[in-house]
Amino acid sequence: MKGIILAGGTGSRLYPLTRVTNKHLLPVYDRPMVYYPLETLKKAGIKDIMIVSGKEHVGDFSELLGSGKDFGVSIRYEVQEEAGGIAQALSLTEDFVSGDKCVVILGDNFFEDDISGYVESFGAYGDGSMVLLKEVENPCSYGVARIEDGSLMEIIEKPENPPSDLAVTGLYMYDHTVFGVIKDLRPSARGELEITDVNNYYIGRGMMRYATLKGFWGDCGESIDGLLDVAQKIKGLSRSHSSIKKQNLTTKTCSTKTF
Ligand code: DAU
Repeated sequence: MKGIILAGGTGSRLYPLTRVTNKHLLPVYDRPMVYYPLETLKKAGIKDIMIVSGKEHVGDFSELLGSGKDFGVSIRYEVQEEAGGIAQALSLTEDFVSGDKCVVILGDNFFEDDISGYVESFGAYGDGSMVLLKEVENPCSYGVARIEDGSLMEIIEKPENPPSDLAVTGLYMYDHTVFGVIKDLRPSARGELEITDVNNYYIGRGMMRYATLKGFWGDCGESIDGLLDVAQKIKGLSRSHSSIKKQNLTTKTCSTKTF
């Protein structure tokens, strides 16, 4: 299973923060944004990773992350010449994926859940594609799932009247056929190759699975307020994790004393 982090695009919703830097290098609480998707992949056991970004900033990523050695992974880089859409960015990784399956994660997404179980089952038995859904308060900002009797019927990109409150998060799993699907896509009205069109292709052929996430999920690129909200949520999560660690430490110290 190969891992792909998509970190191109213009970041226009976060202007002027993204005027001279790439969105995924901005701080989110105590780390650059791109660290979070990198950690999500690494935790799922994916160590062969490609980062796609625009030509203006790909050098900054290589300066920040290097070969990946310090993070315990191997990282390669690919340049997306123009922000031609998520599916167009993914198409650039065909040689890297080289007939394997892949997990694609958007560089501005934060996942609290450990996705290892989904990755393992898709790696072992999955074909076609798999997406992860999450209930949100503002579905109009995302791709939204239309579900009937438990079956995923369609994904609608940023609908005015969302058919559910289940957003399609920016983590997609595909088998090797995805690159052929992208080659047949036509650009959308906004001139991009849309990942939602790729996903609807698989849904239409009965080759899409889905699961719903339990933990927090955030899209740091949705708006400046959204970026702040995700950072605050991450701060809360990291505090509660460190207090759990401290409690465990206290318990150990006490038991050492007792025995
Ligand atoms: O975050 C989840 C949402 O991400 C999904 O619910 C939507 O269905 C999906 O279309 C996407 O929507 P966004 O409006 O958030 O996409 P955005 O244009 O912000 O791009 C998301 C990431 O994809 C961004 O962090 C970098 C990467 N990207 C994007 C474009 C347009 C590229 O690498 N190259 C690109 O050309």
